[in-house]
Amino acid sequence: MKPIRKAVFPVAGLGTRFLPATKAMPKEMLPIVDKPLIQYAVEEAIAAGVTDLIFITGRNKRAIEDHFDRVPELEADLESKNKTALLDTVRNIIPAHVNCIYTRQPAPLGLGHAVLCAAPIVGNEPFAVLLADDLIDADTSVTQQLVEAAHQQDGSVLAIQDVDRRETDKYGIISGTSVNDKTTRLSGIVEKPKPESAPSTLAVVGRYVLEPEIFEHLRQTQAGVGGEIQLTDGIASLLKSRGVYGLQYEGLRYDCGNKQGFFRATLELGRKYHGL
Ligand code: G1P
Repeated sequence: MKPIRKAVFPVAGLGTRFLPATKAMPKEMLPIVDKPLIQYAVEEAIAAGVTDLIFITGRNKRAIEDHFDRVPELEADLESKNKTALLDTVRNIIPAHVNCIYTRQPAPLGLGHAVLCAAPIVGNEPFAVLLADDLIDADTSVTQQLVEAAHQQDGSVLAIQDVDRRETDKYGIISGTSVNDKTTRLSGIVEKPKPESAPSTLAVVGRYVLEPEIFEHLRQTQAGVGGEIQLTDGIASLLKSRGVYGLQYEGLRYDCGNKQGFFRATLELGRKYHGL
């Protein structure tokens, strides 16, 4: 498999669960302590060797683009006041060898459609997808863990986590056979099944390494759950012709798409990294 240099960040979602905070601000800019959610995901991708960050944006998402740009007047001000630590923090968000690329999802047609919007930029290479709502605290970047597994298995790899059966209707749920204690080769995947019909309790969390063949499958994918073009349905089609694997990653995931997970992340990461 070719090296994974590109990562896609679908950030066009509305964030209605955090209204009114997200009325005029992207949900991806909500901070856990002092860093926006999207920056945690970006840092994870960069730690995995990604050099091209592809953001799929939409209306009201300008703040994300601004966040990753340099701000000369802020830097000059911090420099003149000798605030060197802060200066390094704002200057080095995006290292010099990394590119930010922005494209729009013209209509909210679903996660699968958002990923398909990246096709002309990704081209014929494997790539990562990171959903910033899932913040994963890990010693080794989870994207890095997926990249290693993708090279080992020579196929696409999804991050998976065992969840309570009552929660299967919040996730893509896989079925398959184990390859080793952490890895499952998928034989099926369904989006948000009811607990009684879920094929397992192994749920996909918001990290994927995908082969570029996914784009052909997404082009054929019809609207599914919620009337949206689902990435899960594209993967269900991909796995008929290519190997797709689930990896039970090492790390602690916070679902920052809801208030409980967001609050827990703030509390636990605040304690762990900021001594709060
Ligand atoms: C999306 C995917 C789902 C996956 C989840 C992980 O759902 O559609 O398959 O399990 O992300 O967070 P969403 O959370 O956007 O509803």
